[in-house]
Amino acid sequence: AMMHRYTFIIKEAPYTRLCSTKNILTVNGLFPGPTVHIREGDTTIIRVHNKGTQNITIHWHGVKQPMYPWSDGPAYITQCPIMPGKSFSQKIRLSDEIGTMWWHAHSDWSRATVHGAIRVYPKRGDTYPFPRPYAEVPITFGEWWKSDVQAVLTEFKSNGGFPNNSDAFLINGQPGDLYPCSKPDTFKLAVEYGKTYMLRMVNAAMNSILFVSIANHKITVVGSDGSYTRPLKTDYVAISPGQTIDCLLEADQKPGHYYMAAKAYDSTTDNTTTTAIIEYIGNYTPSSPPVFPNLPMSNDTKASTNFTWSLRSLARKVDVPTHVDTKLYFTLSVNLRPCEANNTCAGPRGQRLATSINNISFVSPQFDILHAYYYSLRGVFRKNFPRFPPFVFNFTADSLPATLLNPTRDTRVRVLEYNNSVELVFQGTNLVAGIDHPMHLHGHSFYVVGAGIGNHDKEKDPLKYNLVDPPLMNTIAVPKNGWTAIRFKANNPGVWLLHCHLERHLTWGMDMAFLTKNGKLPGQQMLPPPPDAPPC
Ligand code: C2O
Ligand code: CU
Repeated sequence: AMMHRYTFIIKEAPYTRLCSTKNILTVNGLFPGPTVHIREGDTTIIRVHNKGTQNITIHWHGVKQPMYPWSDGPAYITQCPIMPGKSFSQKIRLSDEIGTMWWHAHSDWSRATVHGAIRVYPKRGDTYPFPRPYAEVPITFGEWWKSDVQAVLTEFKSNGGFPNNSDAFLINGQPGDLYPCSKPDTFKLAVEYGKTYMLRMVNAAMNSILFVSIANHKITVVGSDGSYTRPLKTDYVAISPGQTIDCLLEADQKPGHYYMAAKAYDSTTDNTTTTAIIEYIGNYTPSSPPVFPNLPMSNDTKASTNFTWSLRSLARKVDVPTHVDTKLYFTLSVNLRPCEANNTCAGPRGQRLATSINNISFVSPQFDILHAYYYSLRGVFRKNFPRFPPFVFNFTADSLPATLLNPTRDTRVRVLEYNNSVELVFQGTNLVAGIDHPMHLHGHSFYVVGAGIGNHDKEKDPLKYNLVDPPLMNTIAVPKNGWTAIRFKANNPGVWLLHCHLERHLTWGMDMAFLTKNGKLPGQQMLPPPPDAPPC
């Protein structure tokens, strides 16, 4: 395996979007940030140097970091933040990941502008399990606020209500020509008739699952979240924040100009549509404007689940655990917290919005859990995160009693024995409001063995689990008022965050961590911590 090196300099740079200019936090002055190129199984060292004015951490989303949680990056989970003027050398240690992953800031809301793609190519001499594409094209979706993103965060944290909606969605950093002052910079992809292009999609948006479609063209999904999938021909995709989708676009239509368009699936965010243009090379007069695709309606839950539930592993038979050692059942809720006496809060009922898993709203510690565990420091976290919700009710009923609303606030982890087979059922609830939760687990991929709408039935639903060819993912949208079951092996000692990838839900407390113990044999144990890990 080869060793690659990169330097990431975190610094501010001026960017102009939607007719106004502001300074944003970037890596090396780029937005979106630089792409990391790696071959399967290789290791990369990235020296992250913070030349900004605020603390930051960087996470390698979808990278398993076997035996090396030290580089994973979530603030106060595996490291303390890198302070301004300081640096930290992080590793990208691959296991079996292939395709597209990404990196992003994992502190405050910095990931809005601090993110980029990770491309993992087959080993030298190996090929893709599909015809070699003529070109590979990054398609990174993002979100843009005209105001300062940290100010948006500070404001809704203090008033307890919803964050201000962003002002645009972006494709490769550009809002696209439906937005003001954006036409000349719209992302354009020049294609040659008859050729096939691989689109490496990353949803780096903060708070929205996106529907994406290309006018007149079908696309073929061939991978997601760093694994290959069975080829799936489709008119559109639904991509969760955190998720990646690799797909093939065949330039097989009448030469012309065609829009690629993306808009939010969910009701709370704005209705705007970001665009890019697919332009055939050649001599012809294109239609003006370009042909626009059909996108599902923004409240079309069926369109979202139909796509997500169609994904399968490429292999006809995968190594999904058939025997389960640890069964977990996690409820995902939007909650309320009482408002402080001397404050007025902008959430429902004059309270603060909160989120929870098993009715525990995660409180970030002041010192990172991983180092506290390694050095046996007391008082940072507790080990008794519940395996089941503290009370069972009709989770998806239309009106739910107000007594269920207030979660406990705590910093707890669930301890897993090395190599345990874990089954985890996520159950969405209709407290305050039912909404999709794109759940992401650090340090692992998991098989998505089942999903449905309504309450999970622990007798009947497991009989329908797909234990043959379920997709291997690291982020999965648990549908609004529904459930999703996953299975994984706890074969990676360390501390691994599990959270909703909607940034506001993460901020409100929809996270917890697994603490996986070392195995007995060498090679089943965490490597020692890096000497330059940032101090708290
Ligand atoms: Cu994409 Cu916890 O991260
Ligand atoms: Cu959520």
